[in-house]
Amino acid sequence: MKYLLRLAVAAVAILAMGCSNAADTTKETSQTNSAHVAESAAVQMKPEVVMYKPPTCNCCTGWAEHLQRAGFKVVIHKRDDMQAIKAEHGVTRKLASCHTAIVDGYVIEGHVPAADVERLLKERPDIVGLTAPGMPQKAPGMQSPGLPPRGYEVLAFNKSGTTTLFHRY
Ligand code: CU
Ligand code: CU
Repeated sequence: MKYLLRLAVAAVAILAMGCSNAADTTKETSQTNSAHVAESAAVQMKPEVVMYKPPTCNCCTGWAEHLQRAGFKVVIHKRDDMQAIKAEHGVTRKLASCHTAIVDGYVIEGHVPAADVERLLKERPDIVGLTAPGMPQKAPGMQSPGLPPRGYEVLAFNKSGTTTLFHRY
């Protein structure tokens, strides 16, 4: 119940103001990408992640950097029409977070840890994608880099918006 309440609060927060709003508009072309890209050949084989985010969202940028550290290349598009992008990719209001990303045909909504994206790409289930609805506080992009995800669920969702648990942190 507490958890649901927190989700609801987070959802309201997103609707009210989107992500955290400090000016970081130049950070997107992040150098972390090139710094980490040379880690190993296997790492370089990871597919490209195309991410759509509201122009001023900081936690989105934090999530992108988390994926880059895990070896993904992330292409960032700042967009003012996030609701349209979410609708286009089957992300209902209930499933929504801040950013929406596409990787290898799957939709990744919100602060889904890189490990779950990797598992998704390995197992390739017949789903639309993964979401961490709302704005979980102890999630990559929301907390300091390197801290473990805690206290939220990553859900798999399909075309009808039905969800199943993918990973509980
Ligand atoms: Cu966020
Ligand atoms: Cu975001």
